[in-house]
Amino acid sequence: MASCIVEHSGSILIKRMYNAKAYSAASATSSLASTTIARRDPTEHDVQIEILFCGICHSDLHQVRNEWSGVMPTVYPCVPGHEIVGRVTKVGSAVTKFKPGNLAAVGCMVDSDGTCSECQAGLEQFCRNITLTYNFPDKHLGGVTYGGYSESIVVDERFVLRVPSNLNLAGVAPLLCAGITTYSPMRHWGVTKGKKVGVVGLGGLGHMGVKFAHVLGAHVVVFTTSPNKKEDALRLGADEVVVSRNREEMQKHAGSFDFILDAVSADHDINAYIELLRRDGNITLVGAPEKPLAVAAFGLLVARRSLSGSPIGGIPETQEMLDFCGTHNITADVEVIPIQKVNEAYDRLLKSDVKYRFSIDMASLKSK
Ligand SMILES: NC(=O)c1ccc[n+]([C@@H]2O[C@H](COP(=O)([O-])OP(=O)(O)OC[C@H]3O[C@@H](n4cnc5c(N)ncnc54)[C@H](OP(=O)(O)O)[C@@H]3O)[C@@H](O)[C@H]2O)c1
Ligand SMILES: [Zn+2]
Ligand SMILES: [Zn+2]
Repeated sequence: MASCIVEHSGSILIKRMYNAKAYSAASATSSLASTTIARRDPTEHDVQIEILFCGICHSDLHQVRNEWSGVMPTVYPCVPGHEIVGRVTKVGSAVTKFKPGNLAAVGCMVDSDGTCSECQAGLEQFCRNITLTYNFPDKHLGGVTYGGYSESIVVDERFVLRVPSNLNLAGVAPLLCAGITTYSPMRHWGVTKGKKVGVVGLGGLGHMGVKFAHVLGAHVVVFTTSPNKKEDALRLGADEVVVSRNREEMQKHAGSFDFILDAVSADHDINAYIELLRRDGNITLVGAPEKPLAVAAFGLLVARRSLSGSPIGGIPETQEMLDFCGTHNITADVEVIPIQKVNEAYDRLLKSDVKYRFSIDMASLKSK
């Protein structure tokens, strides 16, 4: 164990910490490589987790390559990863929800003020004083937070989730971002039996969206640019699949959708989907492409359609989603990889070549 001295609100604090193995990127153009990072020793409200699996979200790639520089510039070295599942190894004296040996999960947030109206409502994702799991100022050790491409993490118990015991852990990890990010807007916009729901982009988020919309009872249509994903889409729960580059196929659905979830990671024509909404229909963006999307005003105004966005979900809803997945036996379809293949995985993610989420087996970090 080691300690470090940090300045906090004008006073000097001594923090106990330990070293953890991790993978980090040194710059926007470097590959991820093995490193060692400092983690704080658990303080009284903290849970220390040995990470078993961490999903690879496209947001990890956007941030490692500094593609969101206008909104949240990346601070290097960057240790990504916010789809974390593992086992509790140590808890602070005031922790009540967890004990060593429990399964535990962490998503995109690790702290918030806990006092504002958003936090009080369980909507921590909207708190102005949120701390994201990586690339955000670290209140404890200074510098920035480091994510889940690591052997362990230490998190305030308020941001640690319980994991249903019946689920495959490699497939649980992606629920912590891809799962909640698709579940939350579907609940918000009332996806249920009798609704016609579209999911655009069959990637990590999209395939979870299809699973949730199907279990919620909607008629689900997948829009994909990859004709070879057709059979998978049907297996995942889609009722219909449209190859979006085919104008004729798209036209057949004009004016018919109650809700469309857009989970595309790159530039695309969103107007083509707005046209498919019925009166008062909604399209929600969860995808976060690097460049702004052009929106034609007429597509929205002629049928009082709406366009919104949605970021992850609050802690109570994330727990609800995990419990829902436990009840309905839902996990992500994963390709489990050792951490040493992470750079290859990023290249494949860019080619939409993953079925449908990479999940890193963190045991691989121990073997060098
Ligand atoms: N709102 C949030 O809180 C939140 C949370 C997590 C992630 N995100 C963002 O959501 C997006 C998707 O993340 P992900 O992890 O699901 O990514 P992903 O696994 O790479 O999936 C993205 C999918 O988009 C489609 N696509 C890719 N390039 C395209 C193009 N040029 N034109 C049309 N379609 C294209 C592909 O589906 P097809 O092959 O089926 O066409 C691809 O599989 C990313 O931008 C990510 O940063 C947002
Ligand atoms: Zn994510
Ligand atoms: Zn708050």
